[in-house]
Amino acid sequence: MAKLNAVITAVGGYVPDYVLTNEELSKMVDTSDEWITTRVGIRERRILKGEGKGSSDMGVEAVNQVLQKSGTSPDEVDMLICATVTPDHVFPATANIISDKCNIRNAHSFDLNAGCSGFLYALDTAAKFVETGARKKVIVVGADKMSSITDYTDRTTCVLFGDGAGAVLLEPTTEDLGVTDSILKSDGFGRVYLHQKAGGSVKPPTHETIDNREHYIYQEGRHVFKHAVSKMADVAVEVMERNNITAETLDWLVPHQANMRIIEGTAQRMGIDKSKVMINIQRYGNTTAATLPLCLWEWEKKLKKGDNLILATFGAGFTWGAIYLKWGYDGDKV
Ligand code: ACO
Repeated sequence: MAKLNAVITAVGGYVPDYVLTNEELSKMVDTSDEWITTRVGIRERRILKGEGKGSSDMGVEAVNQVLQKSGTSPDEVDMLICATVTPDHVFPATANIISDKCNIRNAHSFDLNAGCSGFLYALDTAAKFVETGARKKVIVVGADKMSSITDYTDRTTCVLFGDGAGAVLLEPTTEDLGVTDSILKSDGFGRVYLHQKAGGSVKPPTHETIDNREHYIYQEGRHVFKHAVSKMADVAVEVMERNNITAETLDWLVPHQANMRIIEGTAQRMGIDKSKVMINIQRYGNTTAATLPLCLWEWEKKLKKGDNLILATFGAGFTWGAIYLKWGYDGDKV
């Protein structure tokens, strides 16, 4: 039997309408447009407003686009994975909620938490199910409402994050396309530098944890930055070299959007020009699990069948990794 590969056949994305600019943030905390643009590269980010709205609501928009663009009926989907650090609830899984809201009833669905590397981990997991023939139509979602865990009195974190969701459909092919190679890593030593202190089983919510503002993102940015720059570049270069991809034959780098300087450092180590790097951090900030699919969604029209893409991430855990994939279709024909 011919070898099955897992190829992306459709992409969807969603960002909320509300635009939170650096100017507005400068009125909330002691910061400036100049500091944020030079140190991080973000000009604005999107925020999901409205009571009772969560990550699933953005995920639903992205998944419905994928279904519609690919002409897939919800009944045909046989698996859905949602990568998120901001689930609607501690349980049930946001993937179950997205499936319900999209009328996907023949799939098993579950969440995956790997910080900002969540989408990459979920894509690799989904690909294995497709490659073995166990599943035929798998949706991978990255959705995060980061504004729900962002402390808008803390200038060191509140300028960084935004809300959004993206999704892809993975299907089997016997063509030489799709997810080709992956390197995924994690090391829990990094948890001390980036975490949410309360709300889990170690420290359930109390009046005290709320008073101490322990339900927000805690980050020691300098430490995270140091590891992000070296580790994301290391795996991106490794996956490039072991697949004999050169700066000339690589078509696109799709990096996690946490800091423009981390993105530029990675591109530099890979020896590639910035014109080959998908960058939308200026407009959306760090949307955690949504950064990679949002890039694919925005660049879809420029992508061509057979293009060589490297996806690379670094995030809470620490988790990091890189995936080499060959694009499956001409985006301008969608
Ligand atoms: N405005 C003005 N000044 C600020 C701001 C701000 N928004 N934030 C911090 N500063 C100040 C600090 O207080 C500090 O002042 P001090 O020297 O008087 O103490 C100074 O700027 C320098 O602070 P650093 O933390 O050293 O700033 P740095 O250049 O490292 O930038 C940043 C901070 C942007 C957070 C950077 O460290 C970074 O990008 N880290 C990595 C983030 C990342 O990749 N996260 C992983 C993914 S997230 C996830 O998985 C959920």
